Amino acid sequence: MDGAINNGNWLERLTDALPKGRVLTSPEDRAAYAYDGTWGEAWPDAVVLAHSTGDVVTVLRIADEESVPVVPRGAASGLSGGSVPEQGGIALSLTPMRKIIEISPEDLVAVVQPGVVNLDLQKAAEPYGLFFPPDPASLDVSTIGGNIAENAGGPRCLKYGVTSDYVLGLEVVIPGGEILRLGGRSIKNVTGYDLVHLFVGSEGTLGVITEAILKLLPKPPARATVSAFFDDLDVAAETVVKVVTSGILPLTTELLDRVSIGVVEDFLHLGLPRDAEAMLLIAVNGELESVRRQASEVAGVCRRQGATGVDLADTPEEEERLWKARRSVSPALGRLRPHKLGEDIAVPRSKVPEMVRRVQEISEKWGLVIPVYGHIGDGNLHPTLACDRRDPKEMERVLGAAEDIFKAAIDLGGTLSGEHGIGMLKRDYMPLALPENVIARMKAIKQVFDPHGIMNPGKVFPE
Ligand code: LAC
Ligand code: ZN
Repeated sequence: MDGAINNGNWLERLTDALPKGRVLTSPEDRAAYAYDGTWGEAWPDAVVLAHSTGDVVTVLRIADEESVPVVPRGAASGLSGGSVPEQGGIALSLTPMRKIIEISPEDLVAVVQPGVVNLDLQKAAEPYGLFFPPDPASLDVSTIGGNIAENAGGPRCLKYGVTSDYVLGLEVVIPGGEILRLGGRSIKNVTGYDLVHLFVGSEGTLGVITEAILKLLPKPPARATVSAFFDDLDVAAETVVKVVTSGILPLTTELLDRVSIGVVEDFLHLGLPRDAEAMLLIAVNGELESVRRQASEVAGVCRRQGATGVDLADTPEEEERLWKARRSVSPALGRLRPHKLGEDIAVPRSKVPEMVRRVQEISEKWGLVIPVYGHIGDGNLHPTLACDRRDPKEMERVLGAAEDIFKAAIDLGGTLSGEHGIGMLKRDYMPLALPENVIARMKAIKQVFDPHGIMNPGKVFPE
């Protein structure tokens, strides 16, 4: 996996132009930047630690002149291979840029550098009675820059929407080293094309985010989580449809199936019933009175649907215990086998019960156990294929099942990825999801910002 150092003198130019210590080239350093949260692995030729927008400008100027790939990365917890430096070149780490520049309670905005960890922003907003709604399960490690580049989701999206709904402005550096300041700190802004949201979810293929202006919201005073167990996965899925059509908009509606409950139990020993086919975690928030009323209605719907063990967590400690369990599903499933392919399909909410049934059929067809968990109220599920990549026979079945899952999601009016992005892992399936002329327009947009194709080359688009 050791890529040869590019023969050009870009590395020398970079080292001369940047302050001392910014460029790393030892095998140990390069190996440490070869990964993200998937099984993807490819060594960069060099690592650059960006400490300022100026550093990023220098990198994108020299790399563009010398046609060297640049792969931006935050905490590298991504789940689509997006920050794996597949074609070598420069792994550009933004983690040293982790200043929270400002929190404005009057404007309800935060101005942050890209390397700020999501949870650190939440903690900084807390004393002002504010919060940043996007909450990917990786929030204690993943960075705001990465969250924006992937348009990350999370459980709270059901009520509050995804990362893009909270990005008001961006500073980005594009190939050649030009700085663009996009959007601003007003809630309304329709001056020209919305380039802010072109960069949100662009997976590092257009430029590098060096600063973000984010929208914050006042934190509602109360919240509570109803947990409920079902002996039928279908019924759990139908319960969620019943809850959201009952006039309540929960904060989150999360599903864990039997395998997911089991791996979390192995990991955390919380006393969850291993024989349940499904667990729902439905949180509500707002004023105390309304939280009580909503929680009791949600619990009522669950009971009427035949749920057992319906329980209410309404202290921060009790709730944290449940949410820790939920956030542990992905890492816990990772312990089943050497590798895992965690899918991220999204379908219209009304199609979730059908999607769950289709995953069960696909699992039988290929003779694979496919645990399902995820943000069921958003129609965003994570069917997970635990596997051993070194076993070609098994991988044939795993990839066959993955393709069937994508096709089923699309057939039901859904899509390949709800929140993890396309990166390397899903690019070959893009033609299933998007018409050729749409992919062509996307490529044409990339050409405008990155004519020499240095930004995260090879990602997102099919070969
Ligand atoms: C989660 C990640 C995998 O929902 O998206 O846990
Ligand atoms: Zn998720």
